[in-house]
Amino acid sequence: MEVLIQPTPEAAARLTARIMADALRADPQIVLGLATGRTMEPVYRELVRMHHEEGLDFSLCRTFNLDEYVGLPSDHPQSYRRYMNENLFNHVNIDLRNTHLPDGMAQDLEAECAAYEAAIERAGGVDLLLLGIGRVGHIGFNEPLSPLLSRTRVTVLSPATIEQNAPLFPDPSQMPRRALTMGVGTILDSRRCLLLATGEEKAEIIAKAVEGPITSMVSASALQLHPQCVVVTDEAAASRLQGKDYCRWIFENDPKWEPYR
Ligand code: F6R
Repeated sequence: MEVLIQPTPEAAARLTARIMADALRADPQIVLGLATGRTMEPVYRELVRMHHEEGLDFSLCRTFNLDEYVGLPSDHPQSYRRYMNENLFNHVNIDLRNTHLPDGMAQDLEAECAAYEAAIERAGGVDLLLLGIGRVGHIGFNEPLSPLLSRTRVTVLSPATIEQNAPLFPDPSQMPRRALTMGVGTILDSRRCLLLATGEEKAEIIAKAVEGPITSMVSASALQLHPQCVVVTDEAAASRLQGKDYCRWIFENDPKWEPYR
């Protein structure tokens, strides 16, 4: 894992967006994996800005989101499909037919999960997967004890995750109890992973994910096994990392990060 520590949440989001934009420019047909959540909003704002001001072209790329709530129709204000349309897809030149989220309204959820895995495979796999991290250490909605080799499936959200996301619902009791999510194994199959975490409330879980043991109690710790995983944080989210000075040293000295310094 490489950890890139930026001074502010805004700088961390900008760096994340730049890494994604550079990958998209290098391969306009890239398959992107995408995350939702509060942390990602400034990343998508920056990508939209790059589209308008720098001509960043999404016309050929394909996207697969990590997850979707069970039981919310795609036009529900809190569905992840709606989030993606409002934060990114409606503001760039992406072909909506190339954007994919699992269907949380599917009659047969198991079949939907299998079809989602098959669609990712048909697309040639995910080239670059954007990830956030929940307070319980989830990536996607892989809650504690998710098998490290799990595939796309239905998960039951933990009470901590419900507490984290329920305030986003006008009536918090309407927050679904289940979601469809790429599995930890599906995530690890992506060619590159890019995890963004900002804010003091992520500091403890980032330290566990990056420096703690690999354990299904902290799904994000499985990323330690990934050959190409970059973690971007602000100072606050990096504050509990024992190795943060070394992380800074690598960012300052590795020529590959030169254009991003
Ligand atoms: C959402 C997702 C989740 C979030 C995580 C952090 O698609 O995959 O893992 O990234 O819950 O959410 P925020 O950014 O709201 O703290």
